Amino acid sequence: MRKKIGIFGAGNVGASLGQLIVFTGLADLVLVDIAEGIAEGKALDLGAARPIYGSDVKVAGGTAAALIQDADLAVITAGITRKPGMTREQLLETNAKIVGQCADAIKRYAGSAIVIVISNPLDTMTWVAAETTGFDQKRVMGMAGALDSARFRHFLAEALGASVKDLQAMVLGGHGDEMVPLLSYSTWQGEKVERRVSPEVLNKIVERTKNAGAEVVAKLKTSAFYSPAAGAFEMIKAICNDEKRLLPCSAFLNGEYGVKGIFVGVPAVLGKDGVEQVVELELTASEKQLFEKSCAGVRASVERLKSIKA
Ligand code: LAC
Repeated sequence: MRKKIGIFGAGNVGASLGQLIVFTGLADLVLVDIAEGIAEGKALDLGAARPIYGSDVKVAGGTAAALIQDADLAVITAGITRKPGMTREQLLETNAKIVGQCADAIKRYAGSAIVIVISNPLDTMTWVAAETTGFDQKRVMGMAGALDSARFRHFLAEALGASVKDLQAMVLGGHGDEMVPLLSYSTWQGEKVERRVSPEVLNKIVERTKNAGAEVVAKLKTSAFYSPAAGAFEMIKAICNDEKRLLPCSAFLNGEYGVKGIFVGVPAVLGKDGVEQVVELELTASEKQLFEKSCAGVRASVERLKSIKA
């Protein structure tokens, strides 16, 4: 039977992701948004594109969270986005409330769903979704690594004049300024990019990758959406089709990488059960140090939120 995917938030990210789902016919789709008419209107619009896409999936939308009843997968994109000059962390308090409400609805209406969080600050919001639903942590994850790695690969492909298809790269750590693009695992069909691109250029690419979200915000005056939606779609497809893809995503760590009790970007095997395995890569001493610093930032964010709630 076809899967059902519920998306909270029918803004730029939610609608772009919805379009990918309907276009590919991956699953039935419901869009939920508290703003009157937005989800319903976009669902109507997407539904009308189905004959052209040749897609028979069902599309619905509205303000009622109950629409996600029995969804197999629930995606949380709801929340405020950054304005120029803002950090993701500045969204903490507002988005924690919104993500908490979405997670409550997921627990109520779709108790067996796998949950993917896209709202920022990403790793902390994923923690909020896990805490609120009480779901097994394997069923809750955040979308960031797929996006950050795609940005990294995009910039590397441009520098090499190569196809994006032949570039492999990983970005680990929290989805913030301290994310860790791993040069040691960046290859052009197996060959380390470090052998092809100068350290100066690579350095610039690493910095640009870390700031790629802010670079878009500065121009667009709101957050990126095509690439975040594409990143989420890659994860959703892996789960719906039980692909066992190895993708970086914000996953719960229980001792892996020496870290416990937080969600942070690591390579994970994604399949029908959600995060089926966290893969521990061997990191260089400096990558390890940067990863630990990034984890400390995520932990501090979670602690900040706990102290606000207390
Ligand atoms: C970005 C937002 C989605 O990185 O965090 O563009």
